[in-house]
Amino acid sequence: MKFQAPKGVSEYVPPRSSAFSWIRTTLEQTIASAGYELLELPIFEDTDLFNRIGASTDVVSKEMYTFEDRGGRSITLRPEGTVGALRAINEHGLDRGSLPAKIYYCGPFFRAERPQKGRYRQFYSIGLEAVGTHDAALDAEVISIADAGFKKLGLTKYRLEITSLGDAQTRALHRVDLVSYIAGLDLDPETKERANLNPLRLFDDKREEVIALMKNAPILLDYLSPESTAIFSEVQRHLTAMGINFTINPRMVRGLDYYTGTTFEFVHDLLGAQSGIGGGGRYDGLMSEIGGQDITGIGFGIGLDRALLAVEAEELVIPVSFASDLFIIPMGEAAKSLALKLAADLRTQGFQIELAFGDRALKTAMKAADKSGARFSLVIGEDEIASGVVEIKEMITGQINSVRLTSLANALK
Ligand code: HAM
Repeated sequence: MKFQAPKGVSEYVPPRSSAFSWIRTTLEQTIASAGYELLELPIFEDTDLFNRIGASTDVVSKEMYTFEDRGGRSITLRPEGTVGALRAINEHGLDRGSLPAKIYYCGPFFRAERPQKGRYRQFYSIGLEAVGTHDAALDAEVISIADAGFKKLGLTKYRLEITSLGDAQTRALHRVDLVSYIAGLDLDPETKERANLNPLRLFDDKREEVIALMKNAPILLDYLSPESTAIFSEVQRHLTAMGINFTINPRMVRGLDYYTGTTFEFVHDLLGAQSGIGGGGRYDGLMSEIGGQDITGIGFGIGLDRALLAVEAEELVIPVSFASDLFIIPMGEAAKSLALKLAADLRTQGFQIELAFGDRALKTAMKAADKSGARFSLVIGEDEIASGVVEIKEMITGQINSVRLTSLANALK
C-alpha cells in the first residue's frame, strides 16, 4: 500500500520548502520588528471556544474538524488563530500589563473546505493581535505591518480593501433596515436561515441571483455614527500619510463574525478565485465573549500558502540561501573519521556543514555536493591527510583555493 497525504492538505518538500520557509521568516521578521512577541499556541482547543467565531459562518457551521477525545471532551482543530490567542492572553494575564498586548503566532490551521488551488484543508498562516487599545493609529499600524510584509516579499500586484463595520449602535440601526429589506426578498429557506443568524452574510453570497437581489440593500457605511466616521477617516488619513494605497469596499464581508470597526483585506490580482492573501480587523466584544475583560483588539492573518503562490505568480526571485557553508567529501576510512571530527568542530563554531556518506566514487560525491546547495566543498583523501592541506571549491564560481586544515574555520569566515 502506497500512502498519500490526506486530500486537500498543503505540504512543502525541497526545493519549494526553502521558498516557503523564506516567506515565513520574512513575514515573521516584519511582525517582530514592530514589537510583537511570539505566542506558541495549541493546535486544538475546546470546541466551544471556536463556536464564538460565529454560528453563521461556514468556518464554524460546516468546516470545523471536531472530535471527541479519549476523555469524552469535544475538541476542535483550530480553524483560525484569533480566539485561541485571546484565550491565551486572558489565561496568562498578558492584558494586565501595559496595553496593547502585542503578540503573533504562526502555524497550521484546519478548515474542511472543498480543496482547490490556494484553498486547503490544512493551510499555514501567520497572524498578529494587538489587544486592549482603541486607537485609529493602531489600526493603521496593523494594516501597515501586513502591507510591509507583502512589500518585503517583493509583491506589487495586490490591493488593499478597507471598510468599517462601525460601533454597536451603527450595526444595530443598519441591521433593522437590512433585515426588513431582506424580508421583502424571495429567498430559499436555507438562505433565509443564514440571514437570520447574520444578515450581513448575504452580501457574501456568490450566486448571481442573490447578488442581484442584494444590489439595493442598505450599506452599513451609510449608517456610521459620527464617532465611527471620525475613526474611519483617521485610519484613512494615517494610511495615506504612510503612502499605503487602499480602496473602500463597503460590501466586504469577512468569513468570521467577530469583526467591528476597521476591517480589511489584501487581495492579489493573479491568484484567481482564492485571491485573499491576508485580512483582519477590529473585534470589540470578542475578549469578553470568551470570558476575559471587556477590551477591544485588532489583528490580521496572512495565508502563507497563498503568499507563496503570489510570489510564484509574480515570478519573483527568492534570495539564494545556501543550504550549508561546506560539503565535505571523505575518500577512505581514515578520511571519514577525520571528516566527522572536522564537521563536528566546525559546527560548534557556528558553521553549517554537510558530509557525503556511502562509499561513492568521487564523481558521484561531487554531484551530491552540487545538489546539496552548499557554498563550498572539499575532498579529503590520503594525500590531504598527509599534507594537512585541502582544496576548497566555491560551488557557484568553481574557484579553488588551497587551505591548511588547521585554518579551515578562518578560510570559511
Ligand atoms: P481569515 O481571513 O479567515 O482570517 O484567514 C487569514 C488568511 O488565511 C486568509 O486571508 C487566507 O490568505 C488564508 N486562508 C484562509 N483559509 C484558507 C484555506 N482554506 N487555504 C489556504 N489559505 C487560507 C483569520 O483567520 C483571522 N483570524 C485573521 C485575524 C486576526 N483577524 C483579526 N485578527
